[in-house]
Parts: sequence; C-alpha cells; structure tokens
Amino acid sequence: MVYLSKMLKITDPYIEGNELKYVTDVIKSKWLSIGKYIELFEEAFADYLGVKYAVSVCNGTSALHLALSAIGVTKTDNVILPTHSYIATAEAAKYCTDDLTFVSIDNKTWNINTKKIELKNNTKVILPVHLYGNPANMQKIMKLAKENNVFVVEDAAEALGAKYKNKFVGTIGDIGCFSFFGNKNLAVGEGGMCVTNNESLYNKMLKLRHHGETVTRYIHDEVGFNYRMSNLTAAVGLAQLEQIEEILKKKTEIKRIYDGMLINDDIILQKSYKYAEPINWIYAIKFKNLHIKNAVETELQKHKIETRNIFYPMNSMKPYGNLKVRNNDISYTGINLPSSPYLDIFNQIQIINLIEGVINKRGVINEK
Ligand SMILES: Cc1ncc(COP(=O)(O)O)c(C=O)c1O
Repeated sequence: MVYLSKMLKITDPYIEGNELKYVTDVIKSKWLSIGKYIELFEEAFADYLGVKYAVSVCNGTSALHLALSAIGVTKTDNVILPTHSYIATAEAAKYCTDDLTFVSIDNKTWNINTKKIELKNNTKVILPVHLYGNPANMQKIMKLAKENNVFVVEDAAEALGAKYKNKFVGTIGDIGCFSFFGNKNLAVGEGGMCVTNNESLYNKMLKLRHHGETVTRYIHDEVGFNYRMSNLTAAVGLAQLEQIEEILKKKTEIKRIYDGMLINDDIILQKSYKYAEPINWIYAIKFKNLHIKNAVETELQKHKIETRNIFYPMNSMKPYGNLKVRNNDISYTGINLPSSPYLDIFNQIQIINLIEGVINKRGVINEK
C-alpha cells in the first residue's frame, strides 16, 4: 500500500468535532467493545435518516452480508445487482449465493439500468447501488419489487445524506446499508450500518450480528457472525454524525464548482434522475476520448494531484464472470477527481485549468 504524502488526495476524513473527546471517554470507561456509544450512535443515525432501527456493524461489506442473510438469501436464490460498484457489493451477495444477475448501468446516471432488469422465478433481492452518492431509480426499483414480491437492499455505502423523492436513500428499500470506511463522508476507519423499518428484519440482524445468540446467553440456535462495531468506533461515528451537515455542505460546494466549470464537449458529467438529490462522495467525470482521459490523468499526477479509475465492472472479475471490458466502458474513460472536504477553491480551479489545458491540446494528443 502506498501512502501518498504531499499529494492532493481524492478525499480525507473531516475530523473537527468531538471525536477525541468521545474516544477519550471510551478509553477512560474501559468499555472498549460493547458500550454506551453503540446505542447512542445507532439512535442518532436512525433519527438522522428518520427510520425506526439502525444496526451498527464492523464495515459496509458485513452490513450488506448481514442484510442479505437476515432476508434469508441462500444458494437457491437469485440476486440482481448492477455491473458497476465497488467489489464489496458482489462479494456480499456471493457469500450467500452463486446466482447473481449483473445488470448493465444506465449511460447517464451510471446506476443500474432498470429497463434491463429481468427478474427470474428465484429472484429474492434487487440490490441497487447509489454510485458515488447518486441515487438509483428507486421509483422503478420499488415498483418492480412490489409487483414481483422481492426484497430491496440498498447499497448506500457511498450515499449517506442523498435523497430520492424527499426520502433518504437507504430508507426506501427493506434494508439500507452504509459504509464508514476512512474515505467515506462519515468516516470511522472501519464501520458500517444497516437501517430498516421492519421489526422482524431488525431483530434478525441483531441476532445474526452477534453469533446467532438466542435471548439466553451462550445459547446459539443458528450460525451467525461477529459483525459488531466496537464502542471506540461508535464514539468516532457519533462525533462524525454530529458534523454530517457541515461535511455534506462542503462536498456539495465542490460538486457545484466542478459541475459549473467542467462544461466541455469532451467531458461527460454524471446525471441524476428526476427525483434524485445526490450528495458528492468522490466526484467522477467521463471523457469521450480515451487518449484525453489518459493525458489528463498523467498531467494531474505530474502535479501531484491524485486521480482514480472508476470501478471496473464486477462481472469482469475472475470470481464473478470474467467478462471482457470494452474500452469505451466508463471504467476506462472515467476518472475520480479530488473531493476532500479540505479541498480549497484555488486547488480546485488549478485542477479544472489543468484538465482544460489538456483538452485544448486535443489535436496534438490525437495525432500521437
Ligand atoms: C458501493 C460500496 N458498497 C460496499 C462497500 C463496502 O464497504 P466497506 O469498505 O466498509 O466494507 C463500499 C466501500 O468501500 C462501497 O463503495
């Protein structure tokens, strides 16, 4: 792993609140694993999203696995998911079943293309992802789910605070899953959360999170997991949640500036559905021309500005189908741009100018 120093990073955790105070409180209390911050964080998280129940877990991948397990997805069931996401989405589904249907993404929003969803007799769950904080088409997904009597688990790992039709994403389906990995807008290091309004799914998740233990201590009547969050982590999570509006405001401003200034025939911006209110996690753009994308990447790296590739299709990976990726796929032609809440306007303008400079040299690049 390379730790980049003096590099303008893709993002940073915004740690400006009560993190140290709460963590110190945990240390002094000596309750490192189970403790009061877990309940406080879960309650505050459920309140923020306006849901009945929140179950904290040790990361976003376990949140997805816990959600699918609580619904009862097993080897005979089919799960429908988009091609493009961080691999954890497919991984969590694969823990439960080999029957995964990858649906291509919509060209404009880069989220699951609902027109291409074909349910099977054994489909149990539709698992949409709100990619880079951009809500999936939840109206269509919920309609399909209702008509076919299947569950919806939202992968909202990247989208805390985004809304669809005035509802927070993660609260629309049966269960919503979040990640608090260090690069997320709410960052704790390693952590995650499942939210639901369904009491029986909530109780099932509580039980499976803690080794399948019954109400009687040390009696376990099913195979569960240890997916608990620690009290230390929850203390950081609560402090982060207290700042979420401030963090989202800073990130939204970054998106507003990129959206407003990166208007160019060679650049394609991520669009949102009619009822969607996206948040900005890591800003992503797509280029019409692969050579320009490569040149932009080189130029930004030369100026110590970090970029990333867009996620490759999950079904192009060996365990998930090994399909060949076309070179006009978004994972080739797209990049992520710095989106740290600490990114200042001067650096952001520098990034935009560098990109435009490369595009203006287009003729030269094409000739090579
Ligand atoms: C879309 C998506 N789903 C799931 C995950 C998994 O979260 P974690 O890294 O906390 O396990 C991530 C994150 O990194 C993600 O971006």
